[in-house]
Amino acid sequence: MRFLPALILFTAVATAQPVRVVGTPPVFVLDTGHSSYVLGVNELGSLQHVYWGSRVERGEDWGAVRSHRDSAFESRAGMTPEEYPAWGGMRYNEPCLKATTASGVRDVVLKYASHQVRGDALVIRLKDTGTDLFVNLTYRVYPGSGILSRQSEVENRTGETVTLESAQSAAWYLPRGNGYRLTHLAGRWAGETQVIQEPVEPGIKVLDSRRGNTSHQANPWFAIDESSATEDSGRVWFGALAWSGNWKLAIEQTTSQQLRVVGGYNTFDFSSPLKHGEALKTPEFFGGFTDRGFGEASRMLHRFALTEILPASSREKSRPVLYNSWEATTFNVNEAGQRQLAGKAAKLGIELFVMDDGWFGARDNDRAGLGDWYVNRKKFPNGLGPLISAVNQAGMKFGLWVEPEMVNPDSDLFRKHPDWAIQFPGRPRTEGRNQLILNMARNDVKEYIFDLLDKLLVENKIDFFKWDMNRHISEPGWPQLPVADQRKLYVAYVNNVYEIIDRLRAKHPGLEIESCSGGGGRIDLGIMRRVEQVWTSDNTEAFDRLRIQEGYSYAYPAKEMMAWVTDVPNMNGRTTPLKYRFLVAMMGSLGIGANLNHWSEADSKLAAEMIATYKEIRKTVQEGSLYRLISPRAGNLTSNLYVSSGGKQAALFAFLHSQQFRQEPPTIVLKGLEPNAVYRLKPVDEKLAERGRELSGAYLMGKGLNFNLTGDFDSTLVVLERVR
Ligand code: GLA
Repeated sequence: MRFLPALILFTAVATAQPVRVVGTPPVFVLDTGHSSYVLGVNELGSLQHVYWGSRVERGEDWGAVRSHRDSAFESRAGMTPEEYPAWGGMRYNEPCLKATTASGVRDVVLKYASHQVRGDALVIRLKDTGTDLFVNLTYRVYPGSGILSRQSEVENRTGETVTLESAQSAAWYLPRGNGYRLTHLAGRWAGETQVIQEPVEPGIKVLDSRRGNTSHQANPWFAIDESSATEDSGRVWFGALAWSGNWKLAIEQTTSQQLRVVGGYNTFDFSSPLKHGEALKTPEFFGGFTDRGFGEASRMLHRFALTEILPASSREKSRPVLYNSWEATTFNVNEAGQRQLAGKAAKLGIELFVMDDGWFGARDNDRAGLGDWYVNRKKFPNGLGPLISAVNQAGMKFGLWVEPEMVNPDSDLFRKHPDWAIQFPGRPRTEGRNQLILNMARNDVKEYIFDLLDKLLVENKIDFFKWDMNRHISEPGWPQLPVADQRKLYVAYVNNVYEIIDRLRAKHPGLEIESCSGGGGRIDLGIMRRVEQVWTSDNTEAFDRLRIQEGYSYAYPAKEMMAWVTDVPNMNGRTTPLKYRFLVAMMGSLGIGANLNHWSEADSKLAAEMIATYKEIRKTVQEGSLYRLISPRAGNLTSNLYVSSGGKQAALFAFLHSQQFRQEPPTIVLKGLEPNAVYRLKPVDEKLAERGRELSGAYLMGKGLNFNLTGDFDSTLVVLERVR
C-alpha cells in the first residue's frame, strides 16, 4: 500500500464530502447520516479522538487537537483519548494493541504517519516510534444509514517476528462524563438475546465469547445512553462487531471520566505471531449515533444490514415462507415421510421446503454420522433426486441441513482422520452433543469440506443450506503446528469457514444459507454478510420468543430472523393458540416447523390464511421500519408496528399474555405514520374495538387503538393501508 505525503491532503475540501481533512496537523471530519465523527493529530503526533455525536459540519469549529498535562501517576498519553492506543509508554487503560518482538521488547507507541482519503473511506497509517510496526486504520462512512465502520490492520515490517497478544478493531469514546448506561444482549441456549441494562461504573465490564463462535451467551453489540434514553428520545451510541469467533467488548469507565469501548478479537488465549512482512486484519466494527432513542438506533442498524451487509443477490428479494422438518420428524427422515410433509406444506403456501438432520451417513440419532455427508440409502434408496423433484414439482425450492464443521467419533470420517478433530495430544477431548469439532483452521480440512459441499450442490438441485454448528470449541490444541502458532486456531477457523461459504456462493450463485448454531449461537454482522438468514433460537415457544425476538431486534433486522410456528405443548410445557404462534413468527421471516401430519383441517385452514396474510405484509415486516410500541418486558401486552419504506402499508401486532382482574389491555398508540394521511384498517379478526375503519395518522398516533384482547395468549394483527 502506498501513502501520499500527508501534506498534500491537508487542505479543507467541500462540505458535501463525507470525509474531510481540515487544518495542520490534520483533523479528520467524517459525516454519516445525522452524525459526525471527528479525530485528529495532536501536538505530540498522536492520533486523538475528538468527537462522536450529532452532526457538526462547520470545519472551522474543529481547532487543533491538544492533550492533557502529565501528572505523577498518569501520563498525558494515557489520559488522552487515543484513537488506537497500543500498550507502551505509561498507559494503563485497555489497549487496542499489545505486542512482543522476538528480541523481547513489549513497548509499542503509535504515532500518526500518513493518511489517504478514498471516496467514503479514510485510511490512517500509524507507526511505532521504535520499530517498523505499522497499523492501518480504515474508517468508512455509510451516509445512507448513518453508520461508520472501523477496522485495523497490523503490519509487521520490523525484520523480526512480532507476536500480537491483543489486536482490537477500534476504541470508541463517548463524551467525557458520568452517568452512562450500558445496554447489551445476554442469554444462553434456548434463551438468547435478552436485553440487559446496567449503569456504567468505574472499571471494566467485559462482554465476550471464548467459545470459538459468536455464542448464545453474549452478542457482539452494545448501546450506551445517558441513562434516560427511551425508544423515541435521547442520545444513544451503539456498535456491532462483525465477527463469528472469539470476540471481546471492554466497556471501560476510567477515573478521568472517560468512557471507552474497545472491541475486537478476544484477548483470552489469543496470540498471533507475525513474521516480517505479515499482517493481521481485525474484524470490522460498526458504530452509530442517534439522538432519537433506542428505536432509531435499531432502525439504523436494520437499514444498514439490509442495504450493506446482506448478500447483494438477496437485498431485493423477500424471504420465502419456509417449512422445516426437524421438530416433526427429528432423525426419522425418509423419502416417503418427507414427500408427505412436502405435499401438505405446498398446500399451505410454503415456498421453501427444508429437510433437516438425519438424511446422511448412519445418522439415526445424535451419536453417529456427522462427517459422513453422503445420502443414507436406506432412507433414500434413489438418492435425494426423487424428493427434490417432488418438492420442485409442488412449486417449492429445496433446502438441506448440514453441519460441516463437526464429526461424531462414530463416523467414517473420524475413523479415517482422527487427527482432524481439535485436540491436545494425550488429553481427553470433551464431546458436546456426542460430537467433536473439526479443526477448520487447517487448510486440508477446509478444502475437504469445501469439496464435499460443492459435490452435494453439483449432484443435487439444492437451493438452500441450513448450516448448523451444535457445539463450541474446547481443548483448542493444534498439535501439527509449533506451540507458538497454535493459538492462531480461533481466528483461522472463522476465516476458513467464511472462505468456504464465500467460495460456495461464488460457484453456486443461487445458493442461499441460514446460519444456525443450536439456535442463535452464530448471529453477528460477520456471518450475516454471507447468509440470507439466521436461526434465532431453538426455543420456538411463542411467549418466550417475544423476548428473544425483541432482543434480537435491537441489533438485527426482521428479514434475517427465522421464526417458526411449531407444535404445543412446547418449551416450558406451555400451550398457546395457533394464531398466537403464527403472529409471533410473522414478525420475522416466517417458517413452519410443526408436524403437519398432526394438524386438524381447521389448523391447516388457519395456517393457509395466515401464510396468505403474511405474504401481503412480508415486505413491510422484513424491510420496513420497526417501532417497538410496547415491550414484552413492560407488562402483559406486547405490541410491534412495522411501517413500509414508502409509508403505504403498516402492520400492527398485539399480544396479550395473561389478563387479570378483568382489566382491559392498555391503548396502543402508533408511531412512524404520516399525521395527515388516512389509513384503511384491515384487522385479521374482531379484536379491534375502534369503530372507524379509516383513520388519520394523527388519530392513530394520538388517540391510538384499543383491542378486546382477553384471557391468556390472545393476539391480533391489523394491516393499515394508506388510502389518502
Ligand atoms: C440444532 C438446530 C435444530 C436442528 C438440530 C438438528 O439443534 O438448532 O434446529 O437442526 O440441530 O440436529
